Amino acid sequence: MTANPYPLGLRLHGRRVVVVGGGTVATRRVPALLDAGADVLLVAPELTPALRAQVDAGRLHWVPRRFEPEDLDGAWLVQVAIDDPMAAASVSAVAAERRIFCVRADDRRAATAWTPAVTRHGPVTVAVLGGGDPRRAMTVRDAIRDLLAVRLGSDGTASTRGRPGSSAGATGGTDVVGATGTAGATGATGAGSATGGRRAGRVALVGAGPGDPELITVKGWRLLTEADVVVADRLVPGLLLDELRPDVELVDASKIPYGPSRAQEEINQILVDRALAGAVVVRLKGGDPYVFGRGGEELLACAAAGVPVTVVPGVTSSIAAPAAAGIPVTHRGVAHEFTVVSGHLAPDSPASLVRWDALAGLHGTLVILMGLKNLAAITATLIAHGRPPQTPAAVVQEATTGTQRILRSTLGEVAADLLAADLRPPAVVVVGDVVGTLDG
Ligand SMILES: C[S@@+](CC[C@H](N)C(=O)[O-])C[C@H]1O[C@@H](n2cnc3c(N)ncnc32)[C@H](O)[C@@H]1O
Repeated sequence: MTANPYPLGLRLHGRRVVVVGGGTVATRRVPALLDAGADVLLVAPELTPALRAQVDAGRLHWVPRRFEPEDLDGAWLVQVAIDDPMAAASVSAVAAERRIFCVRADDRRAATAWTPAVTRHGPVTVAVLGGGDPRRAMTVRDAIRDLLAVRLGSDGTASTRGRPGSSAGATGGTDVVGATGTAGATGATGAGSATGGRRAGRVALVGAGPGDPELITVKGWRLLTEADVVVADRLVPGLLLDELRPDVELVDASKIPYGPSRAQEEINQILVDRALAGAVVVRLKGGDPYVFGRGGEELLACAAAGVPVTVVPGVTSSIAAPAAAGIPVTHRGVAHEFTVVSGHLAPDSPASLVRWDALAGLHGTLVILMGLKNLAAITATLIAHGRPPQTPAAVVQEATTGTQRILRSTLGEVAADLLAADLRPPAVVVVGDVVGTLDG
């Protein structure tokens, strides 16, 4: 007889959790552990770029080698995220010897603890165990999540509000929106139609929002739960990946080698190939897919191959990051325009398409993405062309996440202050009088 599991909510804050393995399973599991405040020790010879980014940001400790028994010293929990059954068994044997609960990605029956399917709604966490069947757990979890979205407000308190788009027919199962014109022009079949008796694949370009997993749209989330394949960028909220079905193929787009343009070709090809093979593909991108997200190139590649595309806009960091720092990009009587600009090229770069001299003449809000590296040159150029050095400025790093940092300064000093404060990408720079508008 198999006994029922005993449900618990582990309070992992500051407690050591060892994750063995540095691949896609670990990439999906680590964000929830970090969200719980766990002191994560990752043991793996190699890491995915997403995990390496967490290491680089100092959020977890990495031991770059294979597992050794002493790795479990001081651990409360171990997650085995490797698919080599012998190696996994030896980790769980050491864990059992030391009475440490062990989650096994490779073999649920050999595990002493199971990870449930989870949905989070403000302070409410619902965890579902499906009697050893992860698909059943996901199905029940999805139903509960939909119910909670209708019944609870974002703070987890009861509400009578319906969620956006939940009215009948508003977001039917075969909608192909936004890009239908383009895809249709190339003769693509609609989503849900059959091709030679086989399900037709499709692609959705989904904006994941700036970092807080609750800032994905309802439609984006629904498409994510329907996906067979998810091609994710480095900046997408890790907790969204944690909630994917276990059978979903997760492609880490930041892992694709080659330079930026070859890598983009590879991504386009992956989207097209998987969709033509019949898969429902979600291309999950940080913020909005069309704001410095190369979404347009991906749409054109899919359209050229006759693959239907849905575009789901996302909450862009260019507006959300200032908002998260208490800065409205417009304010009555203060700023009547805001301009979003990429600072990835220096103002004197021959490849730059930005008229920094013209931007210096504007009075409104300037939001600079990807601008940290060139910030000294950018601010000097703006000042040289007339923007006053005392103009308020702010930098918002990792906006809307638990590690958000905010720096307030002026146009003349922000580049030096940034270095002194050791702020790092991803960050948005905001310049303009709106920066101090809401300060008491
Ligand atoms: C390639 S662009 C993608 C922008 C994205 N498509 C959007 O709409 O937010 C990446 C840049 O967006 C900004 N960014 C994205 N997420 C951010 C966040 N959570 N906090 C601050 N800046 C962010 C940073 O300037 C980063 O270098």
